[in-house]
Amino acid sequence: MDYQNLILEIETRLATLTINRPEKLNALNRATILELNQALENLANDSMVRALIITGAGSKAFVAGADISEFAAFPVEQGEALARDGQALLFDKIAHFPKPVIAAINGFALGGGLELAMAAHVRLASDNAKMGLPELSLGVIPGYGGTQRLPQLIGRGRAYEMLFSAKMVDANTALSWGLVNKVCSQEDLLAESKAMAASFLKNSTQASAAAIAAVEAGFRPTEKGYSTEIKAFGACFQTPDFIEGTGAFMEKRKPDFN
Ligand code: COA
Repeated sequence: MDYQNLILEIETRLATLTINRPEKLNALNRATILELNQALENLANDSMVRALIITGAGSKAFVAGADISEFAAFPVEQGEALARDGQALLFDKIAHFPKPVIAAINGFALGGGLELAMAAHVRLASDNAKMGLPELSLGVIPGYGGTQRLPQLIGRGRAYEMLFSAKMVDANTALSWGLVNKVCSQEDLLAESKAMAASFLKNSTQASAAAIAAVEAGFRPTEKGYSTEIKAFGACFQTPDFIEGTGAFMEKRKPDFN
C-alpha cells in the first residue's frame, strides 16, 4: 500500500511507521490521520508484525500537533467531530493496538503530537525532544485524549502545570516526571527503540495483547472523561479566544486574550 504522508518499514517482525510531513513539522492533518488509521488496521491483522514503532521524519519534530490551518474556521459541531473522529480513528486505535507500540519522540511532540505519543504504550525520547500541550495558548483544550492520559502518566498537579502554562518540558524533565520511559541521543533513538521492541518480542504475543487490553480497560473505567473532553473541546470552537488564538498562530504573532 502506498502512503502519501507515511513511510512504513517492516523488518524481523517489527514495523516502523514514520510520519512524513517534515516541512510542516509532521503536523497531523486529516489525510495523515486516515493513513495512520489504515496502516494500523493492516498492521494489527498482519501476523508477521509483532510490535510497532511510531516516529517522525526529519531531525526537528516528532509531531508538532494537529494541523491548526485545517480547523481554525470550524464551527462547534465540526470541532466536536474533529475530536471524536480523531480519538476513534487514531488515538484509541493506538492505545488498544493488540501489539506493543513504542513512540520514538525525535523532536517536538506538541498538542496532538504528545497525545499520540501518550496513546502509545511506551515512549523513548531523544535528548533534544520538547514536549507540551500548548492548546490553552490557542484558546482550545486538548481533544485527542490529552486531558485524560497526561494526568494518568504524570499525576494531576504536573498535568495542570503543563496545561495551564502551555509550556514545553525538555526530555530529562519528561523522564523524571514519568512522561517518557527513556532518553537517549537522537542518533541512537531508533536503535534503542528497536532494541526495546526486540526485548518485547521474546515474550508471548497473545499474553502481550491480553496485558494491553487489561491495562487499557483499567484506565477507562467509564468513558466519561473522554466524552467530556470531546464536548469541551467542541465548545471552544468559535469563541473569541479560539479565533484570536488560532488566528495569531497563523499570522505568526502572540495572541492577545482579554
Ligand atoms: N499545524 C499546522 N502547521 C504547523 C504546525 C501545526 N500544529 N506546527 C508547525 N506548523 C508549520 C508552520 O506553520 C510552518 O509552516 P510554513 O513554513 O508554511 O509557515 C512550518 O510548520 C515550520 O514551523 P515553524 O513554526 O516555522 O517552526 P519554528 O521552528 O519556528 O517553531 C514550533 C517550531 C514547534 C515551536 C512551532 O511550529 C509551533 O509552535 N507549532 C505549533 C504547536 C502547537 O501549538 N501545536 C498544538 C496544536 S493544537
